[in-house]
Formats: sequence, C-alpha cells, structure tokens
Amino acid sequence: MLYGCDEERIYRIGVSQCSQDDWRTKMNDEINREIMFHEDAVVEIRSADDSNEKQIEDIKYFAENGFDIIIVSPNEAAALTHIIKKVYKKGMPVIIFDRNIIGDTYTARIGVDDEGIGRSAAHYALHMLGTGAKAIEIFGLKGSTPAEGRHDGFVAEFKKGKGELLASVPANWNKEDAIPVVDSLLKIYPDVDLIYAHNDRMAIGASEVASKMGRDDIKIIGIDAAPNIGIQAVADSVIDATFLYPTEGHRLIRTALAILKKEPYQREVQLPVSSAVDLTNADILLLQNETLKEETGKMKQLKARIDDYWAKHSSQTSLFYASIVIIILLFGVAFLLLRAYWQHSRHQKTLMFQNKLLEEERDKQKSLNSQLQDAIQSKLMFFTNVSHDLRTPLTLISEPVSQLVSADNLTHQQHTLMKIADKNIKILHRLINQILDFRKYENGKLKLKLIEIDFSQTINEWLESFYSIARKRNIKLTLQAKESTPVKIAVDVEKIERVFFNLVSNAFKYTPDNGSITVFYESDDNKLTFAVADTGEGISERDLGNIFDRFYQVDRVHPNGSGLGLSLAKAFVELHEGTISVESALNKGSVFTVVLPVKHVSETISELKADITEPDVERELAPVSSDIVFDKEKQLILIIDDNKDVQTLVGELLKDEYNIITAVNGREGIRMAAKYIPDLVICDVMMPVMDGLECCKRMKTEVSTSHIPVLMLTACSMDEQRVQGYDSGADGYVAKPFNGIVLKSRCANLIANRKRIRDLWQDNVLVTPTINRDMKSQVEGKNIDNEFYNRFLEIFKKEMGNSDLTVDAIASDMGLERSQFYRKIKALTNYSPVELIRCLRLKHARNLLTSTEKTISEIAYETGFSTPAYFTKCYRDNYGETPSETRSKLTN
Ligand code: FRU
Repeated sequence: MLYGCDEERIYRIGVSQCSQDDWRTKMNDEINREIMFHEDAVVEIRSADDSNEKQIEDIKYFAENGFDIIIVSPNEAAALTHIIKKVYKKGMPVIIFDRNIIGDTYTARIGVDDEGIGRSAAHYALHMLGTGAKAIEIFGLKGSTPAEGRHDGFVAEFKKGKGELLASVPANWNKEDAIPVVDSLLKIYPDVDLIYAHNDRMAIGASEVASKMGRDDIKIIGIDAAPNIGIQAVADSVIDATFLYPTEGHRLIRTALAILKKEPYQREVQLPVSSAVDLTNADILLLQNETLKEETGKMKQLKARIDDYWAKHSSQTSLFYASIVIIILLFGVAFLLLRAYWQHSRHQKTLMFQNKLLEEERDKQKSLNSQLQDAIQSKLMFFTNVSHDLRTPLTLISEPVSQLVSADNLTHQQHTLMKIADKNIKILHRLINQILDFRKYENGKLKLKLIEIDFSQTINEWLESFYSIARKRNIKLTLQAKESTPVKIAVDVEKIERVFFNLVSNAFKYTPDNGSITVFYESDDNKLTFAVADTGEGISERDLGNIFDRFYQVDRVHPNGSGLGLSLAKAFVELHEGTISVESALNKGSVFTVVLPVKHVSETISELKADITEPDVERELAPVSSDIVFDKEKQLILIIDDNKDVQTLVGELLKDEYNIITAVNGREGIRMAAKYIPDLVICDVMMPVMDGLECCKRMKTEVSTSHIPVLMLTACSMDEQRVQGYDSGADGYVAKPFNGIVLKSRCANLIANRKRIRDLWQDNVLVTPTINRDMKSQVEGKNIDNEFYNRFLEIFKKEMGNSDLTVDAIASDMGLERSQFYRKIKALTNYSPVELIRCLRLKHARNLLTSTEKTISEIAYETGFSTPAYFTKCYRDNYGETPSETRSKLTN
C-alpha cells in the first residue's frame, strides 16, 4: 500500500484478463476511464493471452507485490480455481468477472446471464428463420463458463421452436480456430440455415467461410457486440446479428473500491441481457460509440491536463514550501550570526570594561604604592632623624654608665644592674648605627673603602672575640679553611667585619648551649666564599625567602633584634658585588654563605685592628649573670622568661625579699613549678617551646600547682591579650616595660592574697572534718583545690581508724610525690599533712565524745590513735582539757 505525502491511502487494484481482444479492450478502456475519477486508486491490467499458466503467474504477481485487490476473468474455471482460492484464503479480496471458477471462493462476482444470451440468440434465429431451422454451433472454449451457459440457453430455446442443432464444435473463442471448423461443418451439413457462434470473432470467421462457399443465404449470429468488430460486422452485413455482452468496467472498479473501503457492495451481480444488434440499430450504436470515444478522448486530455496542472501545482507547492524552509533557515542563520555578533560585541564591551577596571586598579595600586613608598620614606626619614637625635643622648648616657660599670664602690646588685644598662646601651648604639647605615645604603651614599687584606688572617682575628663566649656556653666553635696559603682580597674591612659579626652572633643566638658553630672559607682567583654554619633551631621554609628583607624578623615569638642586621649584611655584601644566601632545616641548623668577588687594590692595611672586640661580643651575647643567695626564710618565686637578662633584672629586683628560681621556657617552668611549688610564678607570655599562656593553663589544671598564683609578664599590653592571659588562669598581668616598684607590689599582693585564702582554708578545714560535702561553699578557692581536698578527706575518712596511716600512703593514693603532697597541703591549709591528720582525728574524736556514749578508749582507737594514753595527751595539747573533762562538762 502506498501513502502519499498527505498521508492519503492509495489503493492498488490488479486486473487479470484471460485474453486480449476487442471486447476486453472495450472493458479495459472502461476500467481506465473509471479509475480517472478515483484519486486514491491505481490500476494495473495484465493479459494472460489465453494461457492458464500465464494467468496463474499474473495472479501471483498481484498477490506478492502489494496489491490490495485482484479482479480476475479466469481463462478456464478448473485450471484457475486453485490459485484464486489460495490468494482469497490468504486474505486478499478477489472479484471474479465475466468467466467463473468452480465454487465461490471469492469476495464478489460480476457475471452475465450467458444462458439468457443463448436463449435470446435462439429466439432471434427462430424469429428470422421460422420453426424447423437447422443450425450449427461454434462453441467457445471448452471449460470456460460463458460457453457452457450460452450453449445451454441456446439449445433449450432452439429446441422449443422446433429448431434443429446439427452440430456443436468448439473453436476456442478464435476466428482462426473457427474458420476450419465452419468449413468442415458446412461441407458436412450443406443444408444449414444458421451458424450460431459464441462470439463475434468466430462469427466473422464463419461468415468468411460461408461467403467463400457461396452460402450467403446462411444467417450468422455472434455475441459480444464490441463496437469495432461485432457491431461494425453487423453494419457491414458480414454477420446478421450480435448480442451485447456487457462489459461494465466501471462497475468492477467501483465494487473493488467499495470492498477496500469497507463500503456496502453486492457480492453476486448478474448483468442483464440486452436485445440484439442488427442492421436496425448497428449504425446508431456505432455512432454512440464514436461519441463515447471522443468524450473519452477529451476526458483523457482533461485528465492529462489536470495531472499536469497538479504536477505543476505540486512542484510549485514544493517550491513554495522549500522557499519557506529556506527563508526560515536564512532567518535562523541571520539570527545566529546576529547573536554571535551581539555576544561578541558584548564580550568585547565586558573585556573593555574589565580592562578599564584593571587599569583603574593598577593606577590605584600605583598611587597606593607610591603613597606607601612615600610613607615608608618619610617613616625611614623619621627613623633616621630620630636615630641621629638618639645618638647624642645615648652617648651621654653611655659614658657615665660605662664609668659606673667599672666603679669599685658599687654593691653587687648595683653592679649587676649597671652591667645590664651598659650592655643594652651598646645594643642600642649598634641598632642606631645599623639604621643609619641602611639609610645611607638606600640613598646610595654608603661608599666602599677597599683595602687589600689577607682574609685568612683577618677572619682568624675576627673569630678570636667569640671563643670566650663559646667556651662559656660550651659551644664548639671551629674555623675550617681549604688552604693555608694567604687569601688576598680587597674589601671594605669594616663592613665585611660587620657582616661576619652579624652572621656569627646570629649563630650564637640561635644555637643552644653545647651546640656547635663552624666557620668555613675558601677562595680561588675569582671569588672568596665564607660560610657560618650552626646547629641551632633552623629557619622555616616560610621565613627563608624573606630572611634578608628589611625589618623581617624570623622569630616572631622571640625577636632577637630589629630585623635589620641581615638586610644590612646583604646590602654590604651587594656593595661588594657579592652574594649572600642561606640554607636551613628546622631543628637542624642553618648555613649562611657569603661569596665575594676577588678584587685587588694597592692600598693595604698596616695592622689589622678588629673593630668588634671580645668585650663587645661578650656584652652582646652573654647574659649578665648575678649570683642569687637562697634564703630559707623567704618565699619562693619562679621566673619563667626566655630572655636571660629579663630573668636577671626581675631576679635583682625581687631577690632581697624572695628566693628566686628561673626557667627559660614554659615547659621547663612547669617542671620547676611542680618540683619546687613556688609561692608565685612570674611568667613571660611570648616564649619559644611553650608560651606563657599554655604554661599557665597547665599549671592551673595540675593539682600540685593549681593553687600557685601566676603573674603574666609581657611586652604586649593590649586588652585582648590580657583577656587571654586571664582566661588561661593568670592571677595578674604586668606589661613590659615595667616599673620595679609596681612589679614588687604586684608580687606582694598576689602572695598575700594567696595567704588569705590559705588562712581561710585553715580556719575551715577542721570545721567539719568527717563530712566535707559543704567544703566548696565554705572555703573560697578553686574547684581543683576543693576536689583535691575532698579526695584527701575521703581517703582519710576511710583510713581514720588506722593508726599506721602514713603521709606517704595518702600522697601515693593521691598520685603525688611526698614532697609535692606536703607542699600542696601546706600551701592550701597552712598545716603540714601530719598536723592536719592529727587535727582532723582530734576534731572527730571531740564530736564522738559529745554526741555518742562510746568510751574514750573506743573513740581513741576509732580515730586512729595507737593508745588511749597518747590520744589523751594529744587531746589535752590541742584543746587544753582531757577527753574525760570534755565528757564531764557535758553531763553537768
Ligand atoms: C473474449 C471472449 C468474448 C466472449 C467472452 C467469454 O475473450 O471470447 O468474445 O464473449 O470472452 O468469456
């Protein structure tokens, strides 16, 4: 089945004709004319040329090639029945027309009343010839149903009119087959009046034979009445009459479409028989036929034109649609192009805008940079000016102080304090000089004074100053050289000495006691390299990249200088067109390497005099020491500070009134506090290893040290940091620089406070010795101390009756060493543990005496006294009366 582009169904109709002749041509014309009126149908007509086999093939062709219906005129009934039945049973609609099959395995049949035709022919012959006429019959094809019908009808009617049928011989519907048959029959039956042929073609053949034989008297009748042959033969008096065998091709097509469209149709149609065509009406019929032919021709033309127009219309419609599609596509493409253009220009605009913003940002940055530079410059200018201004007063302080340091009439403490002042004046001097030098360098005013020296000799001289401090701190200081030959080089001695001093001083500052520092040098014709390696704490990767930057301090927790030293060293080295670099690993050490190009000048130095001397080094690197005399009568203060000078200074300030012990960082501080249980801890906040906040927090959460007041000491005075300090449990806060008197008074206050709390404890601990649930509310103090005391009481309560109970046993139950336990109890209650236990026993015993009727012996044993006599002694010592006296007072 085909479907048009408008999805309308096109029906395919197959017509299988058994033969090709004038009658069928007429019928095919009718079929083709009818199909013109049905746009939804097409037809294909095949002719079997009188062959059963060929017709079977044609039917199969229609069945297998998508035809919707087959219209068949079967050549022979018996031969074609099988194939027709087969396709019909498979569901293909089949219409039988003209000739029939055996049985009714078809959808519809349009037949003709062949017997009727036979009867009409006989009737006509009898009318022409009268009764008793003698006839011969030229039979169609044996086995084709119309021939049978035509024979039966004729014989029946002819006999009725007393006619005599002399012979009936088949001639297969053909003129060619009919001629010899008629020839023989006429010879056999010379008295024949009538030849009755089953179709016109055979009738014409018979006429030709009769005419040849001079028998024009014989009447000849045919069947079909197809215009070009049959009717014409009548008109030409070749035959006498013919009977119309209706074709009605249009009916076939209409029935087929009705079947396909499931419309009502008549399954069996018997077309009626029309009257004879003879000379009376042959011409009119021919004329009619001509007219019909003409009309058909016109119709065909019209149809052709319509088809043509339709085709044109279709192609124009297609063109129209194609144009619309193309226009839409063009619009689409144009839209895409426009959009791309818009997007591009929008993008361009955004980029330009961003560019503008970036430019503005850059300009802003530039101006900020220049403002910053200006600010830095003016700051530096200010520093320089201030540094200049500081120099004079500093010199004026420096001189009297150095004189005082060497004066011999000072007390030990005064001498120590002056040494601290002297040392720090020198440091200030150096810092100021560094600032001024750096400014000179930045302004390009720092000039080199090159002098030819022997570097190997010079470096030995320089290092000399450091051996003493190395010995004091047990630091292994070594100088390594690749060669022993003199190394001649022109340098600005003063500046390279400063570089060297800076590197070695740093090595000392960051190397712990017992470490090692190695100075190394080597040279060739082009360059001199010297390096200082230490086994100090090292520099983190983050700091390494910035270490030579101006004012960059590596150790932010513990800055040992202004951060200018290394950048000035770099500046000095770069003035020599050399390089300075560092390699370092945390906790392993650092190596600073200086590479100087080897230059020579004629000017040499007569005698090398080191600018930085051993006393300078000592002053800078060695802590000012002071001997602290330990006095057992005084309270103990622990000072935790990483700066030895601060330790010394605080120690000096407090040593008259207190015993002083020191620790250099939080971790060591905790250890010392737990060991000595000092009466006060003074603790710096920023320290390496463990800072003061952490140290304080840990001390306050440790049972043995929780009661010790902590005074935080720091350079930071911001409120936020004070809060941090108090959060960690600190009891007080003193900001650096501090005033000695203030510090002393803060220390005294904290210790007095502590004593007040302890007195309160002392008063309260014995109030309810056995039941201590209310201790917390009665005694002011910290929870951790309450918990400690509660635990102690619980242990004591359990063991009260045990006269062998020792302080050691309770201490170990409490998880403390005996000395720690002793100091903690003493610090909390002002009693020694032994005194406290005895007091608690006596207090409980007194309760029992007054509230129970237990005997004195029972009470003595119950409260852990080894004998009643010892109990009585202790009781009297404590209460000024014997247990019996207490009892008798009650009864009175
Ligand atoms: C054509 C034809 C006709 C005849 C018909 C009978 O093939 O021979 O002349 O009337 O067939 O089926």
